[in-house]
Amino acid sequence: MKVLTSLQELQSFLKNSGESIAFIPTMGNLHSGHISLIQTAKKFSKNIICSIFVNPAQFSENEDFATYPKTPEQDLEKLENAGVNAVYIPSLHNVYPVKPKIQLDIPHLTHCLCGVSRPNFFNGVMTVVLKLILQIKPKFIIFGDKDYQQLLVIKEMVASLSLPVKVISSPIIRNENGLALSSRNGYFSSLEIPEKINKILFECVETSFRTGVELALLEAKNHLNFLDKIDYLEVRSSENLLLYKVGDDLVQFRLFFAGNINGIRLIDNISFGL
Ligand code: PAF
Repeated sequence: MKVLTSLQELQSFLKNSGESIAFIPTMGNLHSGHISLIQTAKKFSKNIICSIFVNPAQFSENEDFATYPKTPEQDLEKLENAGVNAVYIPSLHNVYPVKPKIQLDIPHLTHCLCGVSRPNFFNGVMTVVLKLILQIKPKFIIFGDKDYQQLLVIKEMVASLSLPVKVISSPIIRNENGLALSSRNGYFSSLEIPEKINKILFECVETSFRTGVELALLEAKNHLNFLDKIDYLEVRSSENLLLYKVGDDLVQFRLFFAGNINGIRLIDNISFGL
């Protein structure tokens, strides 16, 4: 596996590498969820590039940019074992030689859910992903269903700008208790709290089919009252994030959750179609 720590090294690697790159952007602190994105990528290409870059532009001032977990040695070992061809670890200057003055926005997808409490987030994500696509020129780019809103936003950015890359989605990886793997789980000394949240979310999905969405959401919000904040608990379309209305076909929808406890923000989403 080549470790490319500058744009120049990336460019010389790309000159000698074949076509059809499958690319997985990450912020490092890799876990089995990321490795599953690599397994998905392998279905599309033998030429796999991952990036590790903690993108300052997608964090707001009060968020965890400075303390975002960094595990570079372990990450490289995991990527090597997963059979990645190259890892791109750009410097801040490689990605942001100038402070971007552009604002990227897809209002119907970015002004709800995470976009409400994290107003910089999707502009920052789109900016960095667009820059990485322009630098790496992959044929495929892989995103997890775990960050479902991010996946839809990137798909729409690629479609709106006619970028020559295909966005591939990869299913959420959950532990034996159903908890979605996430770097932020590592902030907890035990998984008791995130797993409790997870159980309530799955119960909410089940209850929705029995009692209807409105009552199920009310009940779940009650059960989640140990959180410092429920950022959102909403049922929205898997296709365009429109809010569920009574009479809609629930299997086309997802339960979206974000909440904070002890300064840690957790998100998850569960499809009603499973
Ligand atoms: O999902 C993430 O880890 C980040 O938002 C991404 C896509 C790597 C952009 O920084």
